[in-house]
Amino acid sequence: MNRRGAYPMRPAAMIAGLLSLLCLAGSTTPAHATGDDECLACHEGMSGDQGAVAGDLHLLSESLHGSMGIGCVDCHADLVPFEGMHGENLEPADCTSCHAEAGTEHLQGSHRDQPCSACHGAHDIRPVDDPLSPLHHLRVSDTCAECHQLMGDQPSRFRDGVHAHALEKAGLMVAPSCVSCHGAHAALPASNEDSPVHRSRVTATCGTCHAGLLPAHRSSVHAAAASDGEGATCADCHASHDTLPAGVPGWRRLVIAQCGECHESQVDSFHEGFHGKATQLGYERAAMCSDCHGAHDIQAVDHPDSRVGQARIVDTCRQCHEEATLAWAGYDPHVDLENANRNPQAYWARKFMDGLLLFVFAFFIVHTTLWLIRSLRARRGAARHS
Ligand code: HEC
Ligand code: HEC
Ligand code: HEC
Ligand code: HEC
Ligand code: HEC
Ligand code: HEC
Ligand code: HEC
Ligand code: HEC
Ligand code: HEC
Ligand code: HEC
Ligand code: HEC
Repeated sequence: MNRRGAYPMRPAAMIAGLLSLLCLAGSTTPAHATGDDECLACHEGMSGDQGAVAGDLHLLSESLHGSMGIGCVDCHADLVPFEGMHGENLEPADCTSCHAEAGTEHLQGSHRDQPCSACHGAHDIRPVDDPLSPLHHLRVSDTCAECHQLMGDQPSRFRDGVHAHALEKAGLMVAPSCVSCHGAHAALPASNEDSPVHRSRVTATCGTCHAGLLPAHRSSVHAAAASDGEGATCADCHASHDTLPAGVPGWRRLVIAQCGECHESQVDSFHEGFHGKATQLGYERAAMCSDCHGAHDIQAVDHPDSRVGQARIVDTCRQCHEEATLAWAGYDPHVDLENANRNPQAYWARKFMDGLLLFVFAFFIVHTTLWLIRSLRARRGAARHS
């Protein structure tokens, strides 16, 4: 058993392994399993017009597998026994005889129809922590993008976000690649409950790195509501691929839009008020949703810990209005002019103003019409008399 826990040695591989061990002990020349020379007799010198050519074959001996003495037929397993010549349309190389665990995971995921070599390459396979491997943490997102940018916009959105910047520009090994959120062999659609980005699991996936934010989120109204399949996950408020850092230009409007995906009427009423109008005009210091409600610790408004409840609202307003008192803070930032129960004064004041406006219009229309009729009559009378 190696550290992968899955290396059921077949005889050929066993011999290969033993040979390589002997070889490593004796000299530094890599050894091949019996038979490689027979294959290479034809394949080493083959060119494009002679059919299938492995352009990277010369890299095998230097590669991880080559240097371990793993030879042609360990992978091209359908050529055992080899009769000196073979037909066309061979089976794909078999990796799973040695990598059983990866093979099982791969069969359960969305990539089951993609051969191992689509991601790992064929003869130049490197350990995934080799900086030159296409699957190294700092490079793997580009490898995933080779296929996925033809299938969706996730790669381009990912590239616009803070995580790709951290990974590719700042070289941060602790920033997430596609694999950190999706896994590789077992990548699944987001609608599958076993996917690490399924609604029920995505917060925990973000939380593997942003661990310090989990406790606040877990005690918030959004996590509580999430048990009903609703509520807000990290990805609902921050987007999954084009995640932006707090404070970039346009950030405040983005937050408002994201809260608005679920709280449309509060966003509308917010825009009717002072803070909303000021924010719309680009004024960065006016309060927006998270200045009053918080971000990760948002509670129901009647919860004792709510930042807009009786116990805390004065402090909330005092972040910006030093003189705020409890009475002053009674101002409702979500005045709903259509709701007589919630805001009776505003409701009736608006009804009165609407009525007044209608009355004034009606009065002047009647007045003007009568005036017109009268002046026409007067003109006609004057014409008859002259
Ligand atoms: C680590 C496993 C592995 C070993 C060892 C290996 N191959 Fe391959 N080989 C592959 C994979 C993977 C492919 C890609 C196609 C496939 O999946 O069958 C491939 C493809 C090929 C192709 C077709 C290339 C093409 O352009 O279509 C040839 C020819 C080939 N191998 C010859 C060899 C020879 C000769 C050896 C021994 C010197 C060898 N291979 C050793 C895994 C291996
Ligand atoms: C006598 C010459 C010869 C020998 C020996 C030979 N091959 Fe080939 N091989 C070819 C030719 C020619 C092709 C191209 C077939 C085609 O595309 O029609 C080929 C194609 C392949 C392919 C690609 C097959 C595919 O379906 O695309 C693989 C893999 C391969 N050989 C592996 C091997 C291995 C492994 C050995 C040794 C066990 C070996 N070959 C020995 C001549 C040879
Ligand atoms: C969609 C791309 C993709 C495909 C297809 C794929 N792999 Fe991988 N594989 C990866 C990535 C990415 C990693 C690195 C995982 C990580 O960093 O945790 C990896 C890691 C590995 C590793 C080393 C670490 C481990 O998990 O044991 C082995 C061995 C491996 N793959 C074998 C295979 C085999 C065998 C197949 C085919 C049955 C296969 N892979 C198919 C992308 C892929
Ligand atoms: C004959 C057995 C054998 C075959 C067949 C084989 N491998 Fe391996 N492979 C090994 C061994 C042994 C190692 C080194 C020990 C380890 O890291 O698991 C290894 C290592 C690897 C690694 C590096 C693991 C790491 O830690 O990063 C990858 C990736 C890998 N193999 C992929 C493949 C792929 C893809 C194929 C098929 C094209 C394949 N292997 C075929 C035996 C094999
Ligand atoms: C060789 C092309 C290829 C590569 C490389 C590739 N994928 Fe895929 N991926 C696919 C295909 C094809 C599907 C299946 C789409 C489907 O079933 O609709 C898929 C499905 C997925 C899915 C599930 C989405 C769905 O609708 O099923 C995720 C998530 C995913 N891939 C992530 C990755 C990651 C992460 C990597 C890099 C490690 C990667 N892919 C590399 C081709 C690829
Ligand atoms: C920070 C975590 C994260 C990273 C990094 C990430 N994704 Fe995603 N991805 C998600 C989440 C969450 C979803 C599900 C929600 C959605 O569709 O927006 C998703 C959805 C997807 C889907 C659609 C799955 C489906 O079922 O429709 C694909 C395909 C995908 N991502 C590919 C990628 C690729 C390729 C990369 C790298 C270029 C990547 N993702 C990077 C979190 C991430
Ligand atoms: C209800 C929406 C919402 C949810 C759910 C949410 N966030 Fe946030 N997050 C915000 C807002 C709003 C801010 C900006 C706070 C500010 O401007 O002070 C923020 C800020 C951040 C920051 C930057 C911290 C800073 O102030 O610079 C990170 C990192 C972050 N969130 C990650 C997460 C993670 C991880 C999760 C899931 C555990 C999560 N968020 C859940 C709304 C949310
Ligand atoms: C593999 C670790 C990892 C995972 C998983 C991860 N992140 Fe991050 N995230 C980081 C790192 C590292 C940074 C810092 C980037 C920087 O500051 O340059 C970051 C930055 C952020 C920021 C910007 C913080 C700021 O500067 O304001 C937000 C928001 C964020 N992540 C949200 C998420 C969300 C949402 C998820 C899940 C869908 C997630 N992250 C998954 C590591 C991770
Ligand atoms: C100036 C502070 C302030 C701002 C800015 C603010 N709110 Fe509120 N919000 C409150 C107060 C105070 C209440 C409690 C009203 C009551 O019921 O007495 C409340 C109530 C709510 C409620 C509970 C339902 C309701 O209508 O009473 C939701 C949901 C809500 N706000 C969402 C938002 C969203 C989304 C935004 C951003 C568009 C936002 N809030 C901006 C102070 C604010
Ligand atoms: C994905 C949907 C979603 C997003 C995005 C979202 N929320 Fe919520 N929010 C909910 C659900 C579901 C509840 C619990 C049910 C309810 O009371 O409306 C809730 C509850 C609340 C409450 C308590 C309401 C009450 O009745 O006391 C406040 C305040 C709130 N959210 C503010 C915000 C703010 C601020 C943002 C943006 C930073 C935001 N929400 C983003 C879905 C969301
Ligand atoms: C993040 C800072 C911030 C927070 C927190 C905040 N406000 Fe404001 N508020 C402003 C700014 C800036 C203005 C000035 C906008 C304008 O007049 O154009 C304003 C204007 C107002 C006005 C209109 C005229 C005035 O200045 O008296 C009222 C009323 C008001 N806020 C009430 C509140 C209440 C109540 C709270 C607490 C629930 C609160 N605000 C929290 C920044 C904030």
